[in-house]
Amino acid sequence: MSLKANGFEVKNIITWNKTNAMPNITRRVLTHCTEFVIWAVKGKGWIFNYDILKELNPDKQQDGKSKQMKDVWNLPLVQGKERIRDEETNKAAHPTQKPEEMLKRIILGFSNEGDVVLDPFCGSGTTVAMAKKFGRNYIGIEKEEKYIKIIQKRLL
Ligand SMILES: C[S@@+](CC[C@H](N)C(=O)[O-])C[C@H]1O[C@@H](n2cnc3c(N)ncnc32)[C@H](O)[C@@H]1O
Repeated sequence: MSLKANGFEVKNIITWNKTNAMPNITRRVLTHCTEFVIWAVKGKGWIFNYDILKELNPDKQQDGKSKQMKDVWNLPLVQGKERIRDEETNKAAHPTQKPEEMLKRIILGFSNEGDVVLDPFCGSGTTVAMAKKFGRNYIGIEKEEKYIKIIQKRLL
């Protein structure tokens, strides 16, 4: 694996279970509803904000207390007001806009205020928008001019 070859150690592979995934129209295979987030680190000083992730876990114990965050995150695909739409067509402005809640967990759970968050495939800019919101510095790279405009607007 190239991560290992470059000195990284995979700590967790988080499964995003898309709770509102579109049904499979062929009805001949299972509905595909997952994506993965690979959390890999270098060295021993990795950041893992255990208590913050625990607080962010929507699953609670019977007495209402927080539970450890698991490596399966049940989150819907972006919809409603969160979905960025093209002003002229009203269609989704980016096909794979990620949920803010997912980036909130990643940024708050695995970085600290003032850290630099890099997204080399920035898309609609969810990562950099959340990095800004939570007091991180950020670098976003995106090749499509139309998406860069969306990102810039999102960061105003
Ligand atoms: C899966 S999308 C990212 C979605 C993003 N996380 C969001 O919330 O909108 C990947 C993006 O990477 C961009 N991309 C692909 N190859 C690239 C490259 N070589 N350099 C910069 N951007 C690239 C695509 O244009 C696309 O917008």
